[in-house]
Amino acid sequence: MWAEGDFQMNSPANITDPLILFMPSGKRGRFPVGTPVLDAARQLGVYVESVCGGRATCGRCQIEVQEGNFAKHKIVSSNDHISPKGPKEERYERIRGLPEGRRLSCSATVQGDLVVDVPQDTVINAQVVRKAAVDRHIERDPAIQLCYVEVEEPDMHKPLGDLDRLKRVLEKDWGWKDPLIAPHLIPQVQGMLRKENWGVTVAIHRDMDISRPFIISMWPGLKNEAYGIACDIGSTTIAMHLVSLLSGRIVASSGTSNPQIRFGEDLMSRVSYVMMNPDGREAMTVAVREAVNSLIGKVCEEGGVSRYDILDAVFVANPIMHHLFLGIDPTELGQAPFALAVSSALQYWAHDLDIDINRGARLYTLPCIAGHVGADAAGATLSEGPYRQDSMMLLVDVGTNAEIILGNRKRVVAASSPTGPAFEGAEISGGQRAAPGAIERVRIDPETLEPKFRIIGVDKWSDEPDFEQAAGVVGVTGICGSAIIEVIAEMYLSGIISEDGVIDGALNARSPRIFQDGRTFSYLLRDGEPRLVITQRDVRAIQLAKAALYAGVKLLMEKQEVDHVDTIRFAGAFGSFIDPKYAMVLGLIPDCDLAEVKAVGNASGTGALMALLNRNHRREIEDEVHRIEKIETALEPHFQQIFIDAMALPNKVDAFPHLSLAVKLPPKKNLSDDGGATDSGAAPRRRSREERAARRGRE
Ligand code: FES
Repeated sequence: MWAEGDFQMNSPANITDPLILFMPSGKRGRFPVGTPVLDAARQLGVYVESVCGGRATCGRCQIEVQEGNFAKHKIVSSNDHISPKGPKEERYERIRGLPEGRRLSCSATVQGDLVVDVPQDTVINAQVVRKAAVDRHIERDPAIQLCYVEVEEPDMHKPLGDLDRLKRVLEKDWGWKDPLIAPHLIPQVQGMLRKENWGVTVAIHRDMDISRPFIISMWPGLKNEAYGIACDIGSTTIAMHLVSLLSGRIVASSGTSNPQIRFGEDLMSRVSYVMMNPDGREAMTVAVREAVNSLIGKVCEEGGVSRYDILDAVFVANPIMHHLFLGIDPTELGQAPFALAVSSALQYWAHDLDIDINRGARLYTLPCIAGHVGADAAGATLSEGPYRQDSMMLLVDVGTNAEIILGNRKRVVAASSPTGPAFEGAEISGGQRAAPGAIERVRIDPETLEPKFRIIGVDKWSDEPDFEQAAGVVGVTGICGSAIIEVIAEMYLSGIISEDGVIDGALNARSPRIFQDGRTFSYLLRDGEPRLVITQRDVRAIQLAKAALYAGVKLLMEKQEVDHVDTIRFAGAFGSFIDPKYAMVLGLIPDCDLAEVKAVGNASGTGALMALLNRNHRREIEDEVHRIEKIETALEPHFQQIFIDAMALPNKVDAFPHLSLAVKLPPKKNLSDDGGATDSGAAPRRRSREERAARRGRE
């Protein structure tokens, strides 16, 4: 084989060999006529699955020839350039069926130039598959490989044991030299070999923390499917994907609430529970493992899969959940210096953590970045890859603790900010978690100061005639996180609150929706049942939360010596629903081209999925975590000043030039906390800093 670019170095005879280009990897090389396409793929390092070892019985090695003139690659590709179906392939097609255009790459040979597509949706056994829950292509190279072998029958004159002959054929057919075997399998070897006429499938784990391959499971005959789970243990929810390791397809995805909530709503209260109760750690470990086991049952039922066909599992979690799941006391994480018991990636036998899947299944946890920035943030980092970018990427996962990663391929820095539960609807009057009936969108007319809103589950706005009817029995129940951001941003845009976040009581003259509420003023969002009001206290709670996040981001920007970011990625459920424009009006995130701000959903879970489907991603994030610089924001001397500046909307000193192009920001107006208008200007020092910042923005 000659890889492209080697032409001048090699004999001219080889230049005439057919050229093969594999898609989507783009790998290419020249191979002699008659080379099986599977061999060509292997030699180029293109991952094409094979369980039966080229016997044309597993159907896992399917490829598709792309026909046409690929001028850019100087290849004219045609089905005439691949051998016709031989008897073995025809037999497979007759018995199992082959989709139109598909070929078995173990049987088909190269006859001329080819562009070959390695499809990502090879479906065997009419396996039920859902629409991909993760919208991305993950190149597969899983830690598990299924290998079918036919073992020589015993011979009185050759006293080699059954297992030893099995190992011998594994080396001959698959190149696995002297593999280790899980001890629980040894007593089963003889029975399995005899059950299907000396044919067995073994599952090799090729990514253990030892250099030798490891037989972790076995089945008599041809076993043509193996699964893995990717799991994200969050403080409030546990999310899981069940994935075919042989095709990469997500078979089922589901979530459940974390039962540890009964020990404490937030992370610190769970640490306190451990400190106060001698059996607290054990109880929480048992609770989370039971929840994981029942979630496995749920995804398996949905996917029509046996839980004992799950051979690999990858977990991500924040540091405290990570420790509790692994049975480690998290007390040290509750106080400075927030020492992790272990920060590196770990491998276990799933069985040792009471995870009820295949007896030989392995379990891998991604590394933690720091005491406050866990394996979940490592998963999100792997998924979004700031370290793979030329531009400066900000990745934020907003929860009760916001995790912030900022960087590019030169340098990545990370921090966490204690935003508290305000964005999740807690601490806000009328606030609630996102659920049907919760207000999710809000607009306020700047002239009349009248609001309109939309609730989850209903497409109509509240000022449309049949809204009440559409809202039906659920009705309006409260305000969720995305709407809290919108309502406060809209109150600012319509002049109801000043840049300092004070509700302007003088507007009572214009609208009864602004009314005196004790010593301060409130805004009536909805009359009726429930009556929903935005109080001065609510505005303050959101200001504190957003200032905590922004201050963390700003400190990281200072570390990177940049005054703007190029792209922003919002990870997590919260990020999926917030409108980037409103997040920026509020000053939750720094100024950025709005087209470059994207929600990426559960990026931690996607990172876990990547590590499950490709072991190289495990090495990638293990290496990257060592390079990420962790910043302890609270220890930075000017954190307090940055935080105070960030209390203003969108910010006391920082300019928002991109946002100004998309939204007409109100002129500065300052009010005292009792709602009375005061000096319309800021303190002289701040005003000059603002001007400097605005000038920077214009530049
Ligand atoms: Fe099994 Fe081709 S490798 S059918």
